[in-house]
Amino acid sequence: MSDSANEYKGKATMEKITSLAKRRGFVFQSSEIYGGQNGAWDYGPLGIELKNRIAQSWWKEMTQLNEDIVGLDASILMHSRVWEASGHVENFTDPLVDCKKCKSRFRADQIPEEALSAKKCPDCEGELTDTRKFNLMFKTNIGPVEDSAGLIYLRPETAQGIFVNYKNVIQSNRMKIPFGIAQIGKAFRNEIVTKNFIFRTCEFEQMEMQFFVKPGTDEEWYNEWKKRRWAYYERLGLKLDHFRWRQHGPDEMSHYAKDAWDIEYLFPMGWRELEGIHNRSDYDLSRHTEYSGKDLQYIDQESNERYLPFIVETSAGLTRNVLMVLCDAYDEEQVADKGNDDDWRTVMRFHPTLAPVTVAVLPLMKKDGLAEMAQDIRRELKEDFATDYDQSGAIGRRYRRQDEAGTPFCVTVDYESKDDGTVTLRFRDSMEQVRVNKAELTERLRREIKEYKRAK
Ligand code: GAP
Repeated sequence: MSDSANEYKGKATMEKITSLAKRRGFVFQSSEIYGGQNGAWDYGPLGIELKNRIAQSWWKEMTQLNEDIVGLDASILMHSRVWEASGHVENFTDPLVDCKKCKSRFRADQIPEEALSAKKCPDCEGELTDTRKFNLMFKTNIGPVEDSAGLIYLRPETAQGIFVNYKNVIQSNRMKIPFGIAQIGKAFRNEIVTKNFIFRTCEFEQMEMQFFVKPGTDEEWYNEWKKRRWAYYERLGLKLDHFRWRQHGPDEMSHYAKDAWDIEYLFPMGWRELEGIHNRSDYDLSRHTEYSGKDLQYIDQESNERYLPFIVETSAGLTRNVLMVLCDAYDEEQVADKGNDDDWRTVMRFHPTLAPVTVAVLPLMKKDGLAEMAQDIRRELKEDFATDYDQSGAIGRRYRRQDEAGTPFCVTVDYESKDDGTVTLRFRDSMEQVRVNKAELTERLRREIKEYKRAK
């Protein structure tokens, strides 16, 4: 397929995903009734469940499965010296140009080379300004007086909250190097180009882990964390051919990085960064030592050695992971289950551990006690699983609604259920149906979740 055909197809797919996300309550535009707020999105009932499950899966991977990693929740507002020390005040900039005629603003590195050198606006051909540096941090004021003493930034990354607390964590939790600190939280960047739905936004969430190691062992740990992060995505049952590595060239490396690789995902608009793995050397701790005047060296209790640890960082966008999981799960499939070859379904093939609803309970009819029996079953299942209940409309339509929400299992209660206590268990991916005794449902579902393998 040609590049422009690919671009067209990608755009159409992204539009379908954005529209499904709104229709089914995954993601809404922020402040929509006022015309929308650029770069900000709201997570609806299904979206918050999906986002929470992705966060829980990452948190489990980092803290529960690694005894040498502990958690932290630092504040968004930090002392403004933090951002001087981190280098963000000086270096966290994008190169920008403005059109003097139509007032559009562009990232200089994202408009055609010819337009930039001719200083011609790519939209209206008006004259462009010189390129200037634009800092991406949001500024605000703290306290009653709006002066420079009250200047404060909304954090552009969660990582700095970890660096400034690293000594507190060592002392309170008796951590020994090598060890890590994990954190999930909001970050803010005044992004000029916010397109592609929730891919690049001004308000977003990150899942970051900083691993503190002895200098000289950093490269070994760096490779180890690259392996672990790849294995994590592999275990989530995603389309592996949509993942690849890309190393940053010397001219695009962040100011703190000694080495940087991205895990990229093939989004509908093309390959884009999903997560960065960075060797931050001792840059952050030496800068915070310099700016705070505090000794941030680690003291090895056994050898009495003192040193500034090197840091290996794994930095993933939580909200960008939501978009990745939505894109990865999205499928349209022609089905002939009603003898009708033209019948298409949209199905979100989420891994059952990530799906917002794990099991939906559907009575075949509302009458004859089927609804009551279905509600009893739901009451039992909801102790262990995220459940939904739906009794309105034809059963085929109800299955389609659950397919679109990505619910991996449906339990249908019918007349046979009343006679022998069995129900139909319907699988989202294959649409296969089996009879199961209702007393065995919980165990069966647990097994199906554990052994889940995505077919396509
Ligand atoms: N602490 C290092 C750091 O922040 P980054 O590459 O700038 O590194 C890490 O960001 C991850 O955060 C990215 O891989 C991406 O998933 C996510 N991210 C960054 N900017 C974002 C934005 N404007 N909107 C959504 N996610 C973003």
